[in-house]
Amino acid sequence: MKVIKEPAQIQQLVDEIHKSGRSIGVVPTMGALHKAHRSLIARARKENDFLIVTIFVNPTQFGPGEDYKSYPRTFKNDQEICSKENADLIFSPDEENMYLEGHATTVNVAGGLTDYMCAKHRPGHYSGVATVVAKLLNITKPHRAYFGQKDYQQFRVIERMTKDLNIKTKLISCPIVRENDGLAISSRNKYLTKKERKQATYIYKALKEIALKIKSGQEISVSSLYKAIADNIPEAEIDYADIFDAKKLYPVTEFKKDVVIAAALRLGKARLIDNVVVKKGVD
Ligand code: PAF
Repeated sequence: MKVIKEPAQIQQLVDEIHKSGRSIGVVPTMGALHKAHRSLIARARKENDFLIVTIFVNPTQFGPGEDYKSYPRTFKNDQEICSKENADLIFSPDEENMYLEGHATTVNVAGGLTDYMCAKHRPGHYSGVATVVAKLLNITKPHRAYFGQKDYQQFRVIERMTKDLNIKTKLISCPIVRENDGLAISSRNKYLTKKERKQATYIYKALKEIALKIKSGQEISVSSLYKAIADNIPEAEIDYADIFDAKKLYPVTEFKKDVVIAAALRLGKARLIDNVVVKKGVD
């Protein structure tokens, strides 16, 4: 398994792979790989001839005061995981390879998809994500790219970005991978104390409860999800806990179409996000 830092080197290699008619899958990551990444990598391995995992802690998607500096960097372990999952290549550029001196062009994400959810609480975050993902897709030219459903809004924003920028890569959203007690696996779970870790399990419990009520057609008050999380995790600073249209990501109070029940909160040093999608078959 090769490790390459230079975009130009990757571009040369992927051009050759395209010429040979083989398919390319990419799993974009910020490293600190865990079980959820492994499931993306394993799926991408099955569905493509050549598999690239990108590892880059992207500075432009972190806001002031966020955890860019302390974000876990575990390259050796990541390399072992990629190797066990039979990846062909790791692309792990340095910041100066990705953002050339004097860089002046970014992807600006605006419009309805970023009016609510995490975008409202992390200004500029999704422009940073869209910029780096556009670059990663341009460099690796994959047939397919794999993302976790945990960052639901991220997937929708990237979907819109590829449509707007005529990028032909097929995007695949993969199911959330959870610990045995239901907590969505995340690199940031490492920041939780024992007590916080226990409390964090209420997030998925609360989301599931609301999902069950929607499925069975029961009445739900708009604030019941927020209240359930606030009551069970009193130390949490909740950014949002609400129900959104699954395609357009605006809050809804009627559940005739597909919806995503989603929450984001700060607990101690961690910011946790999670969601459950309820499908009605209408989107
Ligand atoms: O989901 C992530 O790990 C990151 O946001 C991504 C897509 C790799 C872009 O930096």
